[in-house]
Amino acid sequence: MEERLIGRASEERVVREFADHVSPGRVEVYRLLGFDRVPGRREGVYLYDLSGKRYINCRSSGGVFNLGHRPPRVVAALRRALEELDIGDHILLSEQRARLARRLAELAPGDIRYTLFTPGGGEAIDVALKLARGWTGRPRVISARHGYHGHTGLALSAGDERFKRHFEPLAPGFEQVPFGDADALEAAMDDRVAAVIFETIPATAGILIPPADFFPRVRELCDRWGAVMILDEVQAGLGRTGRMWAIEEWGVTPDILVSGKGLSGGVYPLSAAMYRGHLDTFFRRHPFIHLSSFGGAELGCVAALAMLEETTSPGFLDHVEAMGRRFEAGYARLKEAHPDLVAGWRRRGLMMAFELAEDRLGPFMTYALGKHGVLAIFSDFRPRAMQIMPPLIITASEVDEVLTAMDGALATVRELAAGGADPPYIP
Ligand SMILES: Cc1ncc(COP(=O)(O)O)c(C=O)c1O
Repeated sequence: MEERLIGRASEERVVREFADHVSPGRVEVYRLLGFDRVPGRREGVYLYDLSGKRYINCRSSGGVFNLGHRPPRVVAALRRALEELDIGDHILLSEQRARLARRLAELAPGDIRYTLFTPGGGEAIDVALKLARGWTGRPRVISARHGYHGHTGLALSAGDERFKRHFEPLAPGFEQVPFGDADALEAAMDDRVAAVIFETIPATAGILIPPADFFPRVRELCDRWGAVMILDEVQAGLGRTGRMWAIEEWGVTPDILVSGKGLSGGVYPLSAAMYRGHLDTFFRRHPFIHLSSFGGAELGCVAALAMLEETTSPGFLDHVEAMGRRFEAGYARLKEAHPDLVAGWRRRGLMMAFELAEDRLGPFMTYALGKHGVLAIFSDFRPRAMQIMPPLIITASEVDEVLTAMDGALATVRELAAGGADPPYIP
């Protein structure tokens, strides 16, 4: 019998080794938040720590686990792929990459046609911004304050000031406007803007839902000034909002749509910058201008096709919306039971912010939810907004389990807050 991978060492020993050789700073923060637990067995919506305590994963790593942990169809496809394939050579042709790109073109909004694959979401954003600058020959990029697009080069520059301040000078030409404010965007536009980039529903900012006319106006401003419109759906795409792509709600087609995280079912790193046909004139002149050894790895492509099969199966998106509604009904009951602590919620499908009365309650709630068996975190730029992002395959009884845990966690939060304790951690 082969030795198992999970649980070879005690939890204490793993924490010690992690602190000694990976990151003592992170271990300190995990301790403060009461999350110094080591993930072990995982299956569906559940994650178990090495001591066997069970959690419902309402973080889903921002969408990586949209289909839950180790989705059987995707795991089987990856196993099967290992019989015949490997990563592939990224500068050669690829049958699997072509097949996945064709499927994405079928599913993407409007006339989006081509895909360039990368391992991570940040790199896919870099590709999108390189394409926008290369195609327009312009320098300026406008993005959102409190936005997050990854920690790599141009993606970092497009994100909020907080992520960048230790690394100045960064790429010049990047400016931020408040998210959802089309007038501010209009005032910032000119004929030197290469790209406007937003998360369709910014997660780190607190799961914000822009007004109905926002994205149509962004589209119109980009058209008026000849700028490339880029949407980041690394978290919001692939069924998370109850639609295949979150932007479908606003009925506009971006020039570039970026996907990642859940794209290959949580078992292989794969991200994608998908773009409309006219932009390809730039890559046609420079077909090897962005290279990434692991970009479009064939194993990941096979996993992604299996993920898409599941996400596009009949009734899948209806289920997402039905579970979202069930959560919403529960949130209303929680607000009634804890009017002093609960301010409200925002929701599209299963992309949800559960909003507490003040910022300092978010870290308390993260801590308390962990104690009650639910993994969920507060938003970086709006700590009062708890991000509730369960796997899309969550069932009605599992939703009820989460709601019961939230009820218990709120009681714990009340005790913690009444004790006058400082929140355990604020970024
Ligand atoms: C909206 C958004 N864009 C981009 C990224 C970057 O993706 P990755 O971590 O795969 O580089 C993230 C990661 O959390 C994200 O949430």
